[in-house]
Amino acid sequence: MERVIIKDALRSADFGKEINVKGWVRTRRGNKNVAFIALNDGSTINNIQIVVDLAKFPEEELKKITTGAALSVVGTLAESLGQGQCVEIQATSIEVYGVANPDEYPLQKKGHTLEYLREIAHLRPRTNTFGAIFRIRHNMAMAIHTFFHQRGFFYFHTPIITSSDCEGAGQMFQVTTQNLYNLKKDENGLIDYSSDFFGSQTALTVSGQLEGELGAMALGAIYTFGPTFRAENSNTPRHLAEFWMIEPEVAFLDITGNMQLAQDFVQFCVNWALEHCMEDIEFLAKMYDAELIDRLKFVVENDFVRLTYTDGINILKDAIAKGKKFEFPVDWGTDLQSEHERYLVEEHFKKPVILTDYPKDIKSFYMKQNEDGKTVRAMDVLFPKIGEIIGGSEREDSYDKLKQRADEMGVPLKDIWWYLDTRRFGTAPHSGFGLGFERLMLFVTGMQNIRDVIPFPRTPKSANF
Ligand code: 4AD
Ligand code: MG
Repeated sequence: MERVIIKDALRSADFGKEINVKGWVRTRRGNKNVAFIALNDGSTINNIQIVVDLAKFPEEELKKITTGAALSVVGTLAESLGQGQCVEIQATSIEVYGVANPDEYPLQKKGHTLEYLREIAHLRPRTNTFGAIFRIRHNMAMAIHTFFHQRGFFYFHTPIITSSDCEGAGQMFQVTTQNLYNLKKDENGLIDYSSDFFGSQTALTVSGQLEGELGAMALGAIYTFGPTFRAENSNTPRHLAEFWMIEPEVAFLDITGNMQLAQDFVQFCVNWALEHCMEDIEFLAKMYDAELIDRLKFVVENDFVRLTYTDGINILKDAIAKGKKFEFPVDWGTDLQSEHERYLVEEHFKKPVILTDYPKDIKSFYMKQNEDGKTVRAMDVLFPKIGEIIGGSEREDSYDKLKQRADEMGVPLKDIWWYLDTRRFGTAPHSGFGLGFERLMLFVTGMQNIRDVIPFPRTPKSANF
């Protein structure tokens, strides 16, 4: 008999029909005569109720049916009189694929803390919370591909192993096949990479942007969507050492068009979540964040505020003058802290904000330089509860200016000659940005900690599972 997915079985009205479902036992309750099993197969947050007439089954088999066990159930689909469900299955035969010893299976009762569940990340997808999160995660990935595909962007695969540091921050994980116990060094005591696998020093990428720009300067509009690695030792609820980034890059687009693209993109994704994931979002809202749905709708329905970094600094200074206290000082020329970003978004404007034209010294070498000689055409999209969700810019398209800035910032030209070549051959205005996939996931799920929106988080001192 062909297996029916529980999501489909719950929607069926073929009462009296014999069907087969498979899944894991969430709970078992009942009395001397009958057992009610809540079965879940991951296709939906909802369980299907299996009604078992105990007299019809051998006791030995029934004993194996405990929380966590994997079952195949054949039975008759029936209208349910129980609360909260319209369909149930009257079991005629049950096969137990795998038992889960109640003395050992860690997911016995409901209400484990998120911290505890992180320690059993191999089993947490079986909880309602993480089932919901990972179904939403899939749907967000589909939203992203759909948005760009509909707009004629090409999915461009940039390398994961690289020999250049795009963001220039030097927070990279090295890739090597050398024997670390016996490193080959040259006469100056420096490591000799010529005998290493790639013949040069290599690392995991911090961004696919530089290669993405090469794609955009040929295909017109591309996006990347892949794993990204940063060895920054920031143990915060917003940072991962391994995360996923989406980086669109578009030829003939200026910063204004880039801001509009960013807004359209995020609104499309959030709207997609509301249209495709409502059951899971409602569950998360009920459990963790009562304002979640309102916040999602608000972002879809409202334009993002656009202002310059300098105006943002002035607003923060005004607030301080009026008595607002921040932990970190506010000075033109320094990076905004999360508390500053959140003040602008959550208290001052009460809307998502796009800040532009940052001081050049706190941004990367590739950003287009403004006429004032002090700022660059950068843009950061700031979101309620999250802070920075997107970072991007118009790119410097002048070969001379770009080369000079790379020099000033200590980016070795020998590593990026190929990137500079785009400015020598058919250079053109172009722009792009990077969206942190897990930051978007935090926003859409209402979760507080980025470790809870990726199946197996990598953070300082933690690479289990
Ligand atoms: O602002 P970032 O560093 O920008 C870039 O990497 C550019 N190359 C993007 C571009 O213009 N193509 O990173 C972009 C976004 C951030 O806004 C944030 O959402 C996310 O990536 N991000 C992280 N997410 C999780 N953990 C980390 N350690 C992150 N670092 C950045
Ligand atoms: Mg940034």
